[in-house]
Amino acid sequence: MNSTATELTVATWPSCLPRLLRSSTGTEDYADYTGTGGYQRLDGPDALLDQVDLSGLLGRGGAAFPMATKLRTVGDAGRRGSETVVVANGEEGEPASVKDRWLLRNRPHLVLDGLRLAAEMVGARRAYVYVSDAHAATAVESALGEVPAEVFGETTVDVVAVQPGYVAGEETAAVRVINGGPAKPTDKPPRPFEEGVGGVPTLVSNVETLANLPYIHAHGAQAFRSAGTPMSPGTFLATVTGAGRPAALYEIPHGAPFSELLKLHGLAADTVKGVLMGGYFAGLVNSEILDVTLDHESIRRLGSGLGCGAISILTTQDCPVAVAASVLEYFDRENAGQCGSCFNGTAAMAAAAGALRDGTATDEDLGRLQRWSVVLRGRGACATLDGATFIAASLLHQFPQAVARHLGNDCDTCSDNAFRAQRPYEVEAVVHQ
Ligand SMILES: Cc1cc2nc3c(=O)[nH]c(=O)nc-3n(C[C@H](O)[C@H](O)[C@H](O)COP(=O)(O)O)c2cc1C
Ligand code: SF4
Repeated sequence: MNSTATELTVATWPSCLPRLLRSSTGTEDYADYTGTGGYQRLDGPDALLDQVDLSGLLGRGGAAFPMATKLRTVGDAGRRGSETVVVANGEEGEPASVKDRWLLRNRPHLVLDGLRLAAEMVGARRAYVYVSDAHAATAVESALGEVPAEVFGETTVDVVAVQPGYVAGEETAAVRVINGGPAKPTDKPPRPFEEGVGGVPTLVSNVETLANLPYIHAHGAQAFRSAGTPMSPGTFLATVTGAGRPAALYEIPHGAPFSELLKLHGLAADTVKGVLMGGYFAGLVNSEILDVTLDHESIRRLGSGLGCGAISILTTQDCPVAVAASVLEYFDRENAGQCGSCFNGTAAMAAAAGALRDGTATDEDLGRLQRWSVVLRGRGACATLDGATFIAASLLHQFPQAVARHLGNDCDTCSDNAFRAQRPYEVEAVVHQ
């Protein structure tokens, strides 16, 4: 169940030309990147912003926030005379996700080109690439060394490295690190677009979001929308883990059937019990996932979310109670310990789910877990506590029979040796394609 693969499968979607993945192996250098149209001169930042708006590009870091809205807000501050900053968020705190590390290691120029375009659209003279993966940092530094000075013009680009951590990728934590502080989220407001790096309006965007900008610049909004659905345009990078298979990275057009993804991944539908969506953040979904398409609107209807595109598969050999308990124990260890509701709440939910897994929970424990999964939502400074409530609530709603079996200490899957991974579905190693 735990993905400990050292080999990463990287594959594009049949009949959909990739925009983010590439077929050649190894790190793409400056000559390769410009040879396929990279770093195209930007004559009209406002015209590109209009195209980004029309493209409907949504953030790929987890919240699916419209990119054009963020660009306009920070850009407006710039037009009113404020200094502005852009940050490429490549920290990738989700253990079950590998897409950002893959992009930074293999296509650093694509990310830098997106960062350059974003900086031009908001008038930023300072740009940062925020990473925790040492190989990714090296790839970006080397790429920066290859780029002629005129490409970034007056904009400086710095790489800021941070120790990996679940909350280190949250946007206010990223800003805090760049400002010289600890990798811990701060209360909002102010949000980074209001007051970020150095106290000025700051655009923090996921590296995959930025990596879509060169495509929109080169081909326009209409071409961007030729893949995907009206509400979820374009393609997305999906990290698929679980089911005892090596982890895989796919570029998928939004709206593709989940059943097709299973085929591409080499799995039979009748072996699938459900999924853990969006890394650890968007909760569990039962076998209803088999009949849906992979886009924000369809996954939201199931009460979950695509999040950062990480999809971990639970087979009929996996127990959702044990998976949920492991994820809650992870949140209990990884929360930033700043908000009482979060560190007490994740500890309490982890203890209740652990007792359920171990067959020692009572009806009262279950009642408390149910109540916490509702009342604790929205209570922390960042959304980590929300992630913990989603996994607890989704376990109870999506897998009531597994919960009932555990209450009766009668789960065949867990009876011998219950699953207890510290970091379930972690993608431990990234190899070049
Ligand atoms: C606990 C937590 C962890 C997060 N970790 C990451 C991360 O590792 N990488 C990332 O891009 N966004 C992460 N986010 C989302 C960021 O706060 C922010 O929304 C995102 O970087 C914005 O980029 P986007 O609009 O391009 O998605 C995290 C959010 C939360 C609440
Ligand atoms: S909600 Fe949790 S993880 Fe987020 S800042 Fe507060 S204690 Fe830290």
